[in-house]
Amino acid sequence: MPKKLFVIGVGPGSPRYLTDAAKDAINKSRYVIGYKYTLIIIESVIDRSKQQISEITMENQEMVYNDVYNKMADSDYCTVTFTGDVNFSESEVVDRLLEIFGDDNVEIIPGISSIQIAAARCKVPLDKAHVATFHISGDIEGAKLELVNAIVSGKSVILLPRPWPRDPKKNFMQSDIAIFLRKNGVDTSSLKVYVFEHLTQGDKETVFKGKVSNLEGKYFDPFSVMVIDQIKRRTYLQFA
Ligand SMILES: C[S@@+](CC[C@H](N)C(=O)[O-])C[C@H]1O[C@@H](n2cnc3c(N)ncnc32)[C@H](O)[C@@H]1O
Repeated sequence: MPKKLFVIGVGPGSPRYLTDAAKDAINKSRYVIGYKYTLIIIESVIDRSKQQISEITMENQEMVYNDVYNKMADSDYCTVTFTGDVNFSESEVVDRLLEIFGDDNVEIIPGISSIQIAAARCKVPLDKAHVATFHISGDIEGAKLELVNAIVSGKSVILLPRPWPRDPKKNFMQSDIAIFLRKNGVDTSSLKVYVFEHLTQGDKETVFKGKVSNLEGKYFDPFSVMVIDQIKRRTYLQFA
C-alpha cells in the first residue's frame, strides 16, 4: 500500500471543535505535521512517545513535507493539520500536498471553519452570504470587486482579511476594507458589521459590533473574521 496522507481540519481554536474523524486520522498516523497553533489544539490526542511530530513554519514547510515523505515507509500514514476547515482558505498548501503525495493517496477530513463559527455568533446564514477569503498570497483585485458587487446587491458578507506583516502595503485588514468600500461608493456609515477575534478561544475571544465606517483606523488581530450583516429574516410562514 502506498504512503497515505490525511489532511485534516482541527477547528478554529479549541479541541471542542475537533471531530472524531480527525482524531482517528491522528491516531492512525506515525507522522503528524502542523503549525504550532494547530498542534496546540490536538496536543491531548497526539502521543509524542510513539509519533514523530513536526512543527512547521512558512519558511520550512516545503523541506519538512519532503523530508517526512521520503522517510515514510510504504503503508505509513501521515497527518497534516490545518486550522478550521481544510477546504476553506488553505488551497495554496493543500494543492502542494496533493502534488507531493498524489491525489489518490490523500484523504481530506473537513473541520469546522472560523467562518462557520462567526456565522453562528451573529446569526447570518452561510447560504445568504457572500463568503470570501483575502488570506491568500495570490492576487486579490478580482475578489475586491466581487466584494463591492455583493454588498451593492444587498448580500451579507463573511470574510477573512489579509494580514501581511512582512509587507504592510499588501495588508487588506478591516480598516483597509472600510476605506476601500467607501472609496468605491459604498455608504459604509449605514452598513452593520461584526469583527470576531480569537473565536472559540475562551476568554481571548472578542467581538466588535458597529458600522463599517467605525473600522477606519481601527486595529484588529490577524486572527479575525469580519461579517457585514445585511440579512433580512424570512421564515417559512412568508412562503406558505
Ligand atoms: C489561512 S486562513 C485559514 C482559515 C481556516 N481554514 C478556517 O476554515 O477557518 C487563517 C485565517 O483564518 C481566520 N481564523 C482562523 N481561526 C480563527 C479564529 N479562531 N478566530 C478568528 N479567526 C480565525 C483568521 O482570519 C486567520 O488569519
